[in-house]
Amino acid sequence: MNQNNTLEKIIIIDFGSQFTQLIARKVREAGVYSEIINSNQVRNLTKNKLTKGIILSGGPLTITNKNSINLDDHILSLNLPILGICYGHQILAKKLGGKVKISKNREFGKAFVKSKSKSPITKNFFKNKNNLVWMSHEDIVYKIPPGFKQIASSNNSKFAIIANEKKKYYGIQFHPEVSHTINGKILIRNFVLNICKIKKKWNLKRQKEILISDIKKKVKKDKVICALSGGVDSSVVALLLKKAIGNKLICIFINTGLLRKNEEREVLKTFKKKLKLKLIYINASKLFLKKLNNVTHPEKKRKIIGKLFIQLFERYAKKVKGVKFLAQGTLYPDLIESKTVTGSPSSKIKSHHNVGGLPKKMNLILIEPLNALFKDEVRKLGLQLSLPKVLLLRHPFPGPGLAIRIPGKITKEKIDLLKEADFIFINELKKSNLYNKIWQAYAALLPVKTVGVMGDSRTYEYTCLLRAVTSEDGMTADFFSFKKIFLQRVSNKIINSIRGINRVVYDVTSKPPSTIELE
Ligand code: XMP
Repeated sequence: MNQNNTLEKIIIIDFGSQFTQLIARKVREAGVYSEIINSNQVRNLTKNKLTKGIILSGGPLTITNKNSINLDDHILSLNLPILGICYGHQILAKKLGGKVKISKNREFGKAFVKSKSKSPITKNFFKNKNNLVWMSHEDIVYKIPPGFKQIASSNNSKFAIIANEKKKYYGIQFHPEVSHTINGKILIRNFVLNICKIKKKWNLKRQKEILISDIKKKVKKDKVICALSGGVDSSVVALLLKKAIGNKLICIFINTGLLRKNEEREVLKTFKKKLKLKLIYINASKLFLKKLNNVTHPEKKRKIIGKLFIQLFERYAKKVKGVKFLAQGTLYPDLIESKTVTGSPSSKIKSHHNVGGLPKKMNLILIEPLNALFKDEVRKLGLQLSLPKVLLLRHPFPGPGLAIRIPGKITKEKIDLLKEADFIFINELKKSNLYNKIWQAYAALLPVKTVGVMGDSRTYEYTCLLRAVTSEDGMTADFFSFKKIFLQRVSNKIINSIRGINRVVYDVTSKPPSTIELE
């Protein structure tokens, strides 16, 4: 994240939660600058006029384990307001004399909290009697520290929110930072604006200026090649770079053969004609297919694709004189789920192709201006950079493309089947005005053949899976509730027009426990 030394800020201490960056984002949405630091680095925190409050994140560790991290005394010695979330709530309570244990009733997912007493942290939070929140914990605080009072409770957490108003210490057992906690934003806003008393000075317009000036400072007189995929993220990166360095930007678009139907044609048209970017087009579909031949392991697929991407970029970059940098549209969620950003103990979920897939030794220096931002923030940034609406509102598409939507072996035949099925599904969404109500939708081809009957004959063909989710940032997601008639229409069209698919299923899992992509 860009360090900003002029704005009042909140420091978020990362104990390894998958949601730490969401906390930062919610703080920024409240108009306040925030920085994340690793739980091992708290000793580096010094008293200064700009730091106005501390948030302790959640984390995968259990506090009941003897080896778990303790809350460093140094944090308390700063005499700042503190908000502990989930693990942060438990560690704060324990440090101050409360008691924590493994609960018999784990809480994962939706829960309701009730108000028990008034507090500035819950001002305007309890608009309804029972508030919907999102829990994810096994441990609970069962005795609160001296000086604290109970502010809210849920069925399984007596101390869902606690407060020591005098010290301005607050603990919340659930996750106010995730969108499933309906009024979560209000809690964060109350903490940063009312309790820490920070003035709203952070916004994306300012971020845009900072990013452009950072790029200028880093690149100087050299050239940058930008990996364009045709999606929102890399397009926004290209526009930022164009603003920062003008014609020292050369974009490269690689056709992996794993793109959606007609995608390469549309991308080339938009970027060359509409955005007037310098663009090199490489058709490497045969090469990708060859390298992926017989590969079935999801992580292996991702690594192969990531490596090949970089090799091709390096090869073509050599042909352009003076290129020193490679720009990518890596987002913060890509980083969170591939490796830990601050070195805290968050568990790795999958290697996003442009992060974990990169080879250890690279000749080009990476520029990833969006790696502290979330998708919705990138869209807002795109709006400011006048990115055409067709690109701006496009559903996200993963770098490894259709490869991670074909579990098992990838063949040309399977790719072709999938392209057609996906095309039908997305077209129907657009025709029914559902496309923009859904965060991401796609078809996948499962490696299962099943028996069917068509026109009195037996068929033995592939299964197509449809996935459509609502989400705010891709970190959590819920499946979209279609009407039966819509799914029926899509299923009929796919089966009637694609020879090779005789069954269509709809994925009804949320994230977590599933992920959005299949691999
Ligand atoms: P998952 O499957 O992790 O996906 O729930 C979250 C979001 O990230 C996209 N995704 C990727 N994007 N490179 C990308 O640029 C990747 O390797 C990658 N893997 C997943 C996914 O489509 C969803 O929007």
